[in-house]
Amino acid sequence: MDQTGQKRENWGSRFGFIMAAAGSAVGLGNIWRFPYLTGMNGGSAFILIYLFFVFVICLSVMIAEFTVGRNSGKAAVGAYKSKSRNWTFAGVIGVLSGFLIMGFYPVVGGWALAYVVKSFTGLLAAPEAIGDSFGAFIGNPVEPLIWMALFLAMNIFIVSRGVAKGIETAGKILMPMLFVILLLIAARGLTLEGASKGVEFLFKPDFSVVTGQTFLAALGQAFFSLSLGMGCMITYGSYLNKSENLAQNAAIVTVMDTSAALLAGLAMFPAMFAFGFEPAAGPGLVFVVVPSIFAQMGALGPILSAFFFVALVVAALTSSVSLLEVVVAYLMDERSWTRKKAVYISSAIMVAMCIMASLSLGVMSGVTFLGVGAFDFFDILTDKIFLAIGGLLLAVFTGWFVDKEVLRQELTNGGTVSFALFEVWHGLIKYVIPVVIAVIAVTGIMSISQKGLMIFGLAVIAVLALVSKKL
Ligand code: TRP
Repeated sequence: MDQTGQKRENWGSRFGFIMAAAGSAVGLGNIWRFPYLTGMNGGSAFILIYLFFVFVICLSVMIAEFTVGRNSGKAAVGAYKSKSRNWTFAGVIGVLSGFLIMGFYPVVGGWALAYVVKSFTGLLAAPEAIGDSFGAFIGNPVEPLIWMALFLAMNIFIVSRGVAKGIETAGKILMPMLFVILLLIAARGLTLEGASKGVEFLFKPDFSVVTGQTFLAALGQAFFSLSLGMGCMITYGSYLNKSENLAQNAAIVTVMDTSAALLAGLAMFPAMFAFGFEPAAGPGLVFVVVPSIFAQMGALGPILSAFFFVALVVAALTSSVSLLEVVVAYLMDERSWTRKKAVYISSAIMVAMCIMASLSLGVMSGVTFLGVGAFDFFDILTDKIFLAIGGLLLAVFTGWFVDKEVLRQELTNGGTVSFALFEVWHGLIKYVIPVVIAVIAVTGIMSISQKGLMIFGLAVIAVLALVSKKL
């Protein structure tokens, strides 16, 4: 029972929970961001570092988030607060990150939505203009805003219906569909002549391109892609049934997320190399390369391209609902708001942020704060600072402030399921992960070009920590 006297919502089934959690993890992070980061960071070496972080750090962090969430039965802020008010700030950073990510994520979701339609309306007919038309589209002061609003409206619809009816149903239908589409596209790309160079780029490491920045980028991406470091999985865990095997579920979600990212890489790079494109194209990569690839496939092109962008919308949607849910769950749990009120008011703020983010790529590109526009501000602040620090705080909290026996009981469902690696996991969470994240954060922050932004982010965390008791 919560304060309002209602029983806490629960997932309808195990499959439903896994689809919702994997739906949260698999998103623009896998299909839009992972390929362009891989391209910009030299390919395979980046992927290896990324995989190392995913399986050594993030899997353990996900287990910890599920455990803390289910044990407390509370969303991010409540889970921390139920131990000590000194920790409230760690949850609040998560809610703040939710707002910040939702300040640009729906913009990209809107692009994907637009490209479903554009696939049929002549985009592919003029392949040489695809790059320029993407630039013109995202810089347009009106068109992307309409698509962003549409994308956000779909979020509002799903999240206002609640956990089981909205989020879970969406995940169960949309997630399997996404994997099928990606497999089809990868199969097509891999059978093109010259595709092997792309496979080589993905799997033959060149460590000469690795710097401190590569590590920070890979770590930030690992957290972002697995939806960790902001209490998202704490919140989803809080809706989870006491009979579920937490470690096993975390492993399934992690493997699904990693497969989706690698599959997206396989869907893109071989075809890119076959057609002679540049891998380091940046955030426009998916939107420029994919239509260009499909433009060369004749009559089937527009249909395949539309399929791809539907998959991207689907992936983005199941992720953005989880981001919105973190904010909504906080307002419901801690402020006793109704679900509808929480959804409407928080999305209104997100719309305002998204408008700034979208315009910062066009008419407002001259307006910067600490050296970056709104889009990059929201992105860099979360991905390069808040998520990793959020993960570090969660690890310290779980390892040092939650009783080890409580964790053991929660993870083994009171001794009814086994978790053979409990001691290993606990050691990682308590000692290894905080140190590794701290080292990477420090070296990465020292070598980053946006120093002002880094200092600003750390200052925000410090201020929140100081005023935390009153939150
Ligand atoms: N993981 C999602 C993606 O890869 C984005 C996302 C959803 C997220 N919820 C999150 C990122 C929570 C960080 C924290 O696109």
